[in-house]
Amino acid sequence: MNTRKLLITGGAGFIGSNFVHYILENYSNIDVVVLDKLTYAGNLNNLDRWKTDSRFQFLKVDIADKQALSTTCKDLEFTEIVHFAAESHVDRSILGPEEFVKTNVMGTFFLLEIARERHQQSKLNRFLHVSTDEVYGTLGKEGFFTESTSYAPNSPYSASKAGSDHLVRSYFHTYGLPTITTNCSNNYGPFHFPEKLIPLIILNCIQRKPLPVYGKGNNIRDWLYVKDHCSAIFTALEKGKLGETYVIGTRNEKTNLEIVYKICELMDQKHPEGAPHKDLIQFVKDRAGHDFRYAIDPTKIESELGWKPKYNFENAIEETVDWFLENQSWWKDILSGEYKNYYEKVYQELK
Ligand code: NAD
Ligand code: TYD
Repeated sequence: MNTRKLLITGGAGFIGSNFVHYILENYSNIDVVVLDKLTYAGNLNNLDRWKTDSRFQFLKVDIADKQALSTTCKDLEFTEIVHFAAESHVDRSILGPEEFVKTNVMGTFFLLEIARERHQQSKLNRFLHVSTDEVYGTLGKEGFFTESTSYAPNSPYSASKAGSDHLVRSYFHTYGLPTITTNCSNNYGPFHFPEKLIPLIILNCIQRKPLPVYGKGNNIRDWLYVKDHCSAIFTALEKGKLGETYVIGTRNEKTNLEIVYKICELMDQKHPEGAPHKDLIQFVKDRAGHDFRYAIDPTKIESELGWKPKYNFENAIEETVDWFLENQSWWKDILSGEYKNYYEKVYQELK
């Protein structure tokens, strides 16, 4: 058993599971305990390879259930918390905001209370809160989000994440909790849940289903490969200044239509049945309150903490497409479950 143990909430989700892989693959001196409710987005298959590893432990718990969380954490000897658990999909937050407030606001609050108690006992070194650039609202054609951009969330999702960021900030200032917050741009990569743009387009190409593009497809996102995100989070955990925020991105802005065309092009090469895949594109109803543009200026984490991304978009998007082509049982399992009904219903309403 290592003396250093990370408590990772939401570790069965997309970014959380990539972070678990990143830690266990690269740092033999660190143990991991994952706390996850296993919502529709949580998937134990993401962590399958570690289930017999003595450095890894999984516990099913809802962070918004104060009593259950407290009982679960009571005898756990963790030294740091990395907090990913959240409801994470904007479209779902428009359909039903309540779970977002429960998990993202109340869940973070209950976790902060656990952290505060452990810190008072000198048993907690860091609380790293993983958040989103969506808390800053939308950009026009010019400018970038930085750590000093004002909060202006526009969706129930981003508002609930903004609430959690403010709670974390207050626990640093009020109680001296050793917090660090990271706000990153849109991630993509292995284990990405199929409701989000990039995996949805890849999987619909494979299944020759329509590729729904909201509005005109000219909204801009700043795409960050999940493996670069994991190294940035670890850098912030190791070297970040307590109480500070770091925005994370890799200067990779693309319109949604550029992303969809790029995936179609890769699918034409790698999965020629159904080519040209771009014929599957279907322009559908726009999202309510759709933020136009997100873009990150990552100068602070680069210059103050020395973080550098390792991947470029061309290679990483190809690696992502390959991953979905090679891991069909992973996504077929998801597509045959409750998600299937959700997607059919949402798609009917979009048309
Ligand atoms: P995800 O939806 O893939 O995974 C979320 C995980 O949290 C799941 O395993 C789920 O079971 C778990 N969870 C949800 N509610 C819970 C609860 N009440 N108790 C315990 N566990 C619960 O999300 P993701 O894309 O991996 O995002 C992880 C974090 O990163 C989130 O905080 C999100 O706001 C943030 N983020 C994501 C992106 C992105 O592009 N995906 C961008 C910026 C920030
Ligand atoms: P998404 O992956 O849901 O991330 P976020 O809303 O957090 O940025 O969406 C990325 C962009 O793609 C966003 O502008 C909405 C758009 N989009 C589509 O055009 N079609 C889709 O089917 C989805 C899911 C998203």
